[in-house]
Amino acid sequence: MRINVSLIVAIIVAVGGVAFIFTAFQISAERDKLNKELEAKTIRASDHFFNEFVTKNDSILIDEITDSAVQTIGFDGVAVYLNNDSIIQVSEPTGEYLAHSKDYIRQAIASDSSMGKYLKADGKSFYQYIRVLGKKDSPHSAVVFYSDSGYINNILNDIWLRSFLRWFLQAMLISAMTLLIIRRSILKPINKVVEWVKAARFGNVEKIKAKPPTEFLQPLYKEISGIAQEIQEAKAIAQEEARLRTTAEAVWTPERLSEEMKQILEDKTMVVVSNREPYMHVKSGNEIECIVPASGMVTAMEPIVKACGGLWIASGSGDADKEMVDENDKVQVPPYENKYTLRRIWLTKEQEHHYYYGFSNEGLWPLCHIAHTRPVFRKIDWDYYKEVNEMYAKAVIKEIKDKDEPFVLVQDYHFALVPKLIKEARSDARVALFWHIPWPNPESFGICPWKKEILTGLLGADLLGFHTQYHCNNFLETVNHTLESRVIWENFSVKIANHFTLVKPFPISIAFTSRDIENPSNGKDVVNTPADILKKHGINAQYMGIGVDRIDYTKGLLEKFLAIERFIEKNPDYVGKFTFVQIGAPSRSLLKTYSDTISAVEQEANRINFKLKVKGWQPILFLKGHHSHEQIQPYYESANLCMVTSLHDGMNLVAKEYVASKKNNDGVLILSQFAGASQELHGALIINPYDIEESSDAILTALEMPEDLQQQKMKMMRRLIVKHNVYSWGANILRTMASIEN
Ligand code: F6P
Repeated sequence: MRINVSLIVAIIVAVGGVAFIFTAFQISAERDKLNKELEAKTIRASDHFFNEFVTKNDSILIDEITDSAVQTIGFDGVAVYLNNDSIIQVSEPTGEYLAHSKDYIRQAIASDSSMGKYLKADGKSFYQYIRVLGKKDSPHSAVVFYSDSGYINNILNDIWLRSFLRWFLQAMLISAMTLLIIRRSILKPINKVVEWVKAARFGNVEKIKAKPPTEFLQPLYKEISGIAQEIQEAKAIAQEEARLRTTAEAVWTPERLSEEMKQILEDKTMVVVSNREPYMHVKSGNEIECIVPASGMVTAMEPIVKACGGLWIASGSGDADKEMVDENDKVQVPPYENKYTLRRIWLTKEQEHHYYYGFSNEGLWPLCHIAHTRPVFRKIDWDYYKEVNEMYAKAVIKEIKDKDEPFVLVQDYHFALVPKLIKEARSDARVALFWHIPWPNPESFGICPWKKEILTGLLGADLLGFHTQYHCNNFLETVNHTLESRVIWENFSVKIANHFTLVKPFPISIAFTSRDIENPSNGKDVVNTPADILKKHGINAQYMGIGVDRIDYTKGLLEKFLAIERFIEKNPDYVGKFTFVQIGAPSRSLLKTYSDTISAVEQEANRINFKLKVKGWQPILFLKGHHSHEQIQPYYESANLCMVTSLHDGMNLVAKEYVASKKNNDGVLILSQFAGASQELHGALIINPYDIEESSDAILTALEMPEDLQQQKMKMMRRLIVKHNVYSWGANILRTMASIEN
């Protein structure tokens, strides 16, 4: 109420003030105008008077001047001034005015010029005009004309009154409207915000959800519900931490990893190095969007760095990346959370062409993946690979210049030479490299012309990690075949000169915790049915399969589509009932092998759909393009099955993400035996993706698997992922690094 009254008073004072100033201006202009009109009129009338009553030699025909003649000409009074003792009043009522005019008349005669001015006398206002007469043979005399100016004040008073009334009404109207607007658009929403904040304070997410927000408060509402969510999560974390402390259960959470890191690192720095950055800024119309690239390495590493903080050095590859960094090429991420620093490195077109597309992805990638695409090794690509590795090593060395015993975690096949370069400059640094892709057998690796340099570069690290023991063994055998070194099989390490490198498996995982199992809905809405999701794409079917891959020849996408075709052919009952959704993110498409793969996959989906489709249904829905985690989630949640058909894959985190998304423990995972994940996820239907018959049968088995069996398998896999989540992966690597004697 107080706010209303003071607001009205403020508005009235403000509007009144404005009204006063405007009216004052208007009055002053009006007064000037009316005065000028009266003065001009008086002068004109005095001319007329002279024509009528003054002779050529300035003699005044006093006898002829009557009251009525004076009034006809337009004066309220006329007097003739000869000298102080002789003033002839030629019309009424000049007598009462004359006493006030004498000085002014003498002044006009002294200056020998006609003049006029306004006077107030006896409660009356008038304009007096003195016209000086200069008779040649006698002293100056003058005629004094009086015109009533009282009407000017009346007009001006009238204007004041009307303006005041008008402004007063306006002020009232504006106050009423403002009050109404404030009540409806500000006070009411503010009250709602207060309710939300209260609900947020008590972590009552439900209460916030129950009240649909006003449109313009949507961003604030989002923030508040986010805070409520976080408070609720923080409470859950605190409870969970307390429970863990009492039970000493080995479950890893971001908080536990963060605590562990504090103990391991003490005040030491952690630097992560990768080619792919965790966040890309890209232009989208006039806006800049921040997207997470499709990358298993990013999926795994990001939650760890987010939990522990530190510095992440990576190539800036978004077209708006340069606009978002500071003068040191750094930006705080994740957006709005600012948990760690991302330092972007800028590669030239040539460097990107030869180091990334060339040596990394036309050489090492096919070399390490047994997918029957020949590796290509060019000297120029190798030279650029060395150059970029040196550039990254320098960047790391610069960042750790003043830091004692820093921890450096190098990611992947793009930086095989970095560990040695860093160790040569900083022997106190603990350096680990995690190889996110498979390591082939020594014969396969042996075709690389620069195998020795690559192995030597890698063995500069204190710790080398692979997804599986099988890849570790392949690596150790490759070293044995290629280098003068000692492989110590007892503890899986390599000794070159005085330096030891530990080679260990660390099966990578995802950020899935016991909290996600215990609180599966996490405040989110109910799961859509497959039919709901497919309907949005104009397809009628009750069962849905899902596949999510980068479009890469190693992912077995053609084999997957052939298996779907074969399944429908063998099981025509599923025509109109089962559709497979394949989400495919184009990747490395400047390379011919990749652009060919994209077109081949599209063509194959079209061919199969054309062959088998019926009205309102098709067997395959191919969604090409980058999709965010939030966009993919509903597909995972509702799909009856997920197919991972990699021809060769280090781990494959899509398999784990699908399992993690199945909060109702339904659904079946069909998983390639050539993906590292198949060694952990025993609840999956394991297939050989090259065997189309086997894969198509697996689709039928999955769709017809009894509900309780699905639940049993899914629960088992979910428990396993919680136990071996990415936080435990990170903790294992960091503990191992810390345990190595430098
Ligand atoms: O997950 C394996 C991996 O090689 C990552 O290391 C890499 O980031 C990802 O595939 C995607 O590849 P790219 O970064 O070339 O798009």
